Amino acid sequence: MLISRICRPADAAGRPQVRLCRTRRPQQDEGSMSDAWKRMAAEKALEDVRPGMKLGIGTGSTAEHFIRALGARVRDGLDVVGVPTSERTETLARSEGIQMTTLDHLPSLDLTVDGADEIDPQMNLIKGGGGALLREKIVAAASQRMVVIADASKLVPVLGGFPLPIEVVPFGLGATWRAVEKVFADLGLSGALSLRGGDDHPFVTDSGHYILDAALTEIRAPAALAAALVAIPGVAEHGLFIGLASKAYVAGPDGVATVTRA
Ligand code: 5RP
Repeated sequence: MLISRICRPADAAGRPQVRLCRTRRPQQDEGSMSDAWKRMAAEKALEDVRPGMKLGIGTGSTAEHFIRALGARVRDGLDVVGVPTSERTETLARSEGIQMTTLDHLPSLDLTVDGADEIDPQMNLIKGGGGALLREKIVAAASQRMVVIADASKLVPVLGGFPLPIEVVPFGLGATWRAVEKVFADLGLSGALSLRGGDDHPFVTDSGHYILDAALTEIRAPAALAAALVAIPGVAEHGLFIGLASKAYVAGPDGVATVTRA
């Protein structure tokens, strides 16, 4: 059953609530099933973790399942060290007893495990629904491998149904906004751009930036868009993760599927 596109633009954490307003009305148990699938995918990723590993640790509800499962292993004696992708993740990981450090101390990581907002068949991602995209990309890029953990709703044939987060420096916001819109026009893309949290209470990232969410619907050439966006001086980073993830654990009603690049 279709529901109206009129919806809350964001939840309490500033995350856009796209799926609630662009698809069908959620079934009563859908939220809890999706959370159970997120947990299953997160627990599967523990199979990739070896003693002594240096781990990048993602942000979001799926990553939080991973952190809790990893914490249980650590308390059973698993020796790993983690680098967080957000302050939220660092707080939870430390509370789980996981030893945490920074990329200054460990500039090269073995594996990053993180969630995603969308995954396409080439394993390109949209990330940043939780506002941590800049640190998530820095950590993933510093890792030999990135494994994505997700529920099945995140698999899409083409990226763009989820608004693309673009992390921008607050200085010169108007000029950056305009430059982003010009990039979209030059690439034949259209869709509304909005400041996450709104003008009165903009969402501020861990790095002190704002986020513009771009409702583009379909991104047919993600690499071209990525290159054009990072060339804008006021853009700190965007949520297109291209060529970073090598594998995804995706859980749904039939269990956890291992997805690799097409
Ligand atoms: C945070 C992210 C998250 O990984 C993404 O939003 C998925 O979140 P969740 O696991 O809660 O569905 O990119 O910036």
